[in-house]
Amino acid sequence: MNKVFELNHPLIQHKLTLIRDKNTGAKEFRELIKEVSMLMAYEVTRELPLEDVEVETPICVMKGKAIAGRKLAIVPILRAGLGMVDGFLSLLPAAKVGHVGLYRDPETLNPVEYYCKLPSDVPERDLLVLDPMLATGGSARAAIRFIKNRGARNIKLISIISCPEGIAAVHSEHPDVDIFVAAIDEKLNDHAYIVPGLGDAGDRLFGTK
Ligand code: PRP
Ligand code: URA
Repeated sequence: MNKVFELNHPLIQHKLTLIRDKNTGAKEFRELIKEVSMLMAYEVTRELPLEDVEVETPICVMKGKAIAGRKLAIVPILRAGLGMVDGFLSLLPAAKVGHVGLYRDPETLNPVEYYCKLPSDVPERDLLVLDPMLATGGSARAAIRFIKNRGARNIKLISIISCPEGIAAVHSEHPDVDIFVAAIDEKLNDHAYIVPGLGDAGDRLFGTK
């Protein structure tokens, strides 16, 4: 069964409050999403395995630690997931970046994939799927399904704001996927927005409202 990790580091929680504020403008919003993403990347990678490596200091040779050759890829869900990419890459500069684009069919309400480009060795990589909002969970469920269909096996989902409905939806279809969030908000409203949430993440990131 998957686990849900609520990342309650004080810096994450402080910045999240600024992100939620409706008076925070697009420039500051983007910067804060990047900073929170970087702090979340630090927490999400806490369990990466280490190996001993030899290093020569100016004084002597010693055994140091290095990440044990784990191959990572980050996969933002278009479009708002793009806002989290730079924060993750600033800590994981060697990670590959895949992209998944989805839209919701207005009649069936089913998510339709319009773009998917992943690293060719995806079955060998740990994938970190990025989307700032986990609302109904429809987008995350579908994105994870699409990348599993291309061979992905080890997947984590990282969302800044989630709610019980979205977590349950991902949980029911993908019990193997751990979920990392900065907040689990109260509920969804009638328009499937998270309450209290932060509004529309894509519009606030890209100034499209
Ligand atoms: C937002 C958000 C998630 C999705 C969450 O994207 O970035 O992808 O909604 O909602 P869900 O859990 O109910 O699927 P949106 O569809 O608004 O597209 P955008 O990123 O292009 O703005
Ligand atoms: N997508 C958003 O951007 N915000 C929400 O609250 C729900 C879905």
